[in-house]
Amino acid sequence: MDFSLTEEHLMIQEAARDFARAELLPGVIERDEKQEFPKDQVKQMGELGFLGMMVDPKYGGGGMDTLSYVIAMEEISKIDASASVVMSVNNSLVCWGLEAYGTEEQKEKYLTKLASGESIGAFCLSEPEAGSDATSQKTTAFEKDDHYVLNGTKNWITNGSTADFYLVIAQTHPELKHKGINAFIIEKGWEGFEIGAKEQKLGIRGSDTHSLMFTDVKVPKENRIGEDGFGFKFAMKVLAGGRIGIAAQALGIAAGAYELAKEYSKVRKSFGTEICNHQAIAFKLADMHTQIEAARMLVYKAAKDKDNKENYDLSGAMAKLYASQVAMDTTIEAVQIHGGNGYVKEYHVERLMRDAKITQIYEGTSEIQKIVISRAVLKD
Ligand code: CAA
Ligand code: FAD
Repeated sequence: MDFSLTEEHLMIQEAARDFARAELLPGVIERDEKQEFPKDQVKQMGELGFLGMMVDPKYGGGGMDTLSYVIAMEEISKIDASASVVMSVNNSLVCWGLEAYGTEEQKEKYLTKLASGESIGAFCLSEPEAGSDATSQKTTAFEKDDHYVLNGTKNWITNGSTADFYLVIAQTHPELKHKGINAFIIEKGWEGFEIGAKEQKLGIRGSDTHSLMFTDVKVPKENRIGEDGFGFKFAMKVLAGGRIGIAAQALGIAAGAYELAKEYSKVRKSFGTEICNHQAIAFKLADMHTQIEAARMLVYKAAKDKDNKENYDLSGAMAKLYASQVAMDTTIEAVQIHGGNGYVKEYHVERLMRDAKITQIYEGTSEIQKIVISRAVLKD
């Protein structure tokens, strides 16, 4: 597979890199400390076209390929993974899901605003007792007259309080198990929809994570996505692409930490020489560089599979599994290379290490990726 980047890809990479350095880097430490959502920066990301990159221009998107999207995700994640998770959820879960499976009316009403960044989206699958075991949905949406009545709780929802529109997965026909699940578009402010307290987190602290409560929320029938009972398949299809975005986020976190560690090793001296001249440090850099290159190839392969309309369930899961491990390993070593300074906030690597961990948990834990991968491999 040819992974060479076109002129357009290189321009997107440069634009994302410039934006991240100019707009996200200043204040990233403070936002992490205060758990502050990067509100102004997310608005700018919308204006620059980073929130609906792959959406057809007729719905206000950038009409770009998945490779462009992962390239931009990598650059933004090098600096601020709290901003890049907003981008990932909006692009690959919410916009992609609506564009692929929404009705024309849903696209006109919701997708156009989400793709332009005028509105922000959230994807709500996880529940207190249904995380990895996603078919065990307890949230219900029963039909009544011309609408559905939604009841239940969703947990750990990214963009929980900042989103305008929420894609919510709920059980309509419990006797049909996962074949009875539906997906709905819910608007902030609807009666009975309450946003819970913000989670206090280890990493991606600028990202806005909340539980959501629904009590007898009236959902118009035209807000159901797809046929009756399509909701679980919808969630799985959306997550297959979402995992490519999170793999790119993990790659960016790893690459960001590596670049900082490499530069630091060239200026920090011990025993009369720069620390990069100690083989123990140089070999760490060699391992980091190799693993990051390998992760990038897996991420690009998954993105290209999606662009070439090949099945990307397997390549996306492999990219996420591997890149998230590389993000963990690389950030831990980047802290080590920085010594005591690695433990101090102003050097950035401790934040990257804390941010890396989530990439092994959300959009399917590493164990879940291994279930997806092993099932695909054994089916072959
Ligand atoms: N595409 C289409 N359909 C799929 C599919 C896919 N990739 N994967 C599964 N399905 C279908 C199956 O075909 C099956 O349907 P049929 O019976 O009609 O054939 C149905 O879904 C159920 O599949 P399984 O029997 O495989 O279900 P399972 O209970 O064994 O679970 C699982 C499968 C892969 C573990 C799934 O539950 C899963 O992905 N869990 C993790 C959930 C997750 O990733 N959550 C992320 C939340 S969003 C988030 O985290 C966002 C963020 O942080 C920013
Ligand atoms: P559990 O399912 O309870 O798993 C606990 C442990 O057991 C894990 O190590 C898991 O891998 C392992 N395990 C479980 N089942 C198996 C098995 N069959 N085989 C082997 N090991 C297994 N969800 C959303 O829907 N939308 C969001 O926007 C969103 N954003 C999030 C943001 C953050 C910051 C966090 C922390 C979570 C977010 N999530 C979101 C939820 C996330 O997707 C879940 O936390 C994740 O899927 C794991 O579910 P769980 O926490 O219930 O863990």
